Amino acid sequence: MKIEVKNQNLENSKCDALIVNLFEGITNPGGGTGSVDEALDGLIKRIIKEEEFKGSLGSNLVIRTNGAIPAKKVIVVGLGKKEKFDISSARKAMSASLRCAKREKAKTVCTILHGAGTGGLEANELGQAIGEISHLALHSFDKYKSKEKDSPKNEIQTIIIIEADKKKVKAIETGVKRGSTIAKAQILARDLVSEPALAATPTMLANVARQVAKENNLKIKVLDRADCLKLGMGAYLSIAQGSEEPPKFIEIKYTPKGKHKKHIAIIGKGVTFDSGGLSLKPAGSMETMKDDMSGAAAVIATMSTMKEIQPKVAITMIVAATENMPSGTAIRPGDVVRAMNGKTIEILNTDAEGRVTLADAACYVVKQKPDEIIDLATLTGACVVALGDTACGVMTNNQAFAEKVIKAGNETGERMWQLPLFDEDREKIKSDIADMINTGSKGKSGAQNGAVFIEQYVNDIPWVHIDIAGPSWIDKENEWGAKGPTGVGVRTLINYLTNYA
Ligand code: BES
Ligand code: MN
Ligand code: ZN
Repeated sequence: MKIEVKNQNLENSKCDALIVNLFEGITNPGGGTGSVDEALDGLIKRIIKEEEFKGSLGSNLVIRTNGAIPAKKVIVVGLGKKEKFDISSARKAMSASLRCAKREKAKTVCTILHGAGTGGLEANELGQAIGEISHLALHSFDKYKSKEKDSPKNEIQTIIIIEADKKKVKAIETGVKRGSTIAKAQILARDLVSEPALAATPTMLANVARQVAKENNLKIKVLDRADCLKLGMGAYLSIAQGSEEPPKFIEIKYTPKGKHKKHIAIIGKGVTFDSGGLSLKPAGSMETMKDDMSGAAAVIATMSTMKEIQPKVAITMIVAATENMPSGTAIRPGDVVRAMNGKTIEILNTDAEGRVTLADAACYVVKQKPDEIIDLATLTGACVVALGDTACGVMTNNQAFAEKVIKAGNETGERMWQLPLFDEDREKIKSDIADMINTGSKGKSGAQNGAVFIEQYVNDIPWVHIDIAGPSWIDKENEWGAKGPTGVGVRTLINYLTNYA
């Protein structure tokens, strides 16, 4: 799909669908919508008057132009109430109108930039939004469908953004380019999570990571079981020991051109399938457990943008990929294992495996003394109970750092909500026979319980833990995309690394 920006006359634009907009309650549209209405002899005004279209956010009105203008159809998208309008409404309007155009089988779409006129939003920001939304909202994972696979003729091929103000064109173009890059990365993350665990093994993740590194000129290291054993990663390997699939410990490094002030580590939980291990999950809870590598997918996808985005900070990406399976060689509840830093863990529940793999990932990267560590993990069901699939849970040992990450996330539409870490929580991971247990008090292990465990391995380096267990998978489509894997975290990370780090 091509996205272009043109400074041309709206009414004379030739296309299958021409998208304009309307704020709720407006009966006499001005701007682009007004001029299209005039060219249609006041038809839009009449429809509004007859109350067949009210302009509520995301609603669509489709009009056949019958040759009155070169566009075959006009789509009017509702922007909702003007007082409530913001970047999030603009994204919703973009998504709804483009999906409508797709349903109408449009191949070439012309659109005004919702929010650029009286909406008062910035051209660059809106350009990025449409770059992101147009790819994300229209994406579907259908490689395993033999029949329904979208034929290319049913896809939007070109989106032309029509901007009346010539001075804004450059800024919109810059935004569109950045937005498209981010969206393509997020789609990579989504597709990796959508892949069944049969295909998306630790080996496959390592291969994708190699490809990403190659395309972006990044250094990559993939450690196998023997390498990890030599390094003393007894925690990570204990989770991998029940699986026939070999574990892969993946490290990618980005170094910016010129001097850099900061080195940031990003770690993604990479459990390619979480059966729970011997503490086996019930069938229902296992259905979506191929998504337990959503954190890994997000950090690998983030690295796939390095060539385009070029942040000014050094970045080390870590994924300790493994399956979590029950078998005769699997770790048993009650076993004690030793992480790379020497700390011992009593594994009380083999289904609390994520934190155990992350312990060694953190130990490994801490040796490089990064200035900051961010981990993304589908870590706890408790976080899903607390925040649903609306927001990620953020936990930290450094409040100022967390606030920056939360802001970076919320700006991109990835909602972040902080959960507290109390000393009482830290008490609860003490073990009778080892340094710590991998659970908490019986039946009361929360999201914070996983966090205080990981905290033991980051050595006081400023650290933000993002529990993405909820938002990594949605059961109902939203403006950003279809139901299923979301690729959450990619937009937050890229925004943080380029604008806040
Ligand atoms: N991968 C799961 C967490 C999860 C749950 C992710 C639901 C996505 C949706 C994690 O490994 C897990 O099983 N956590 C346990 C921990 C418990 C045994 C202490 C949980 O949250 O139930
Ligand atoms: Mn688990
Ligand atoms: Zn898990």
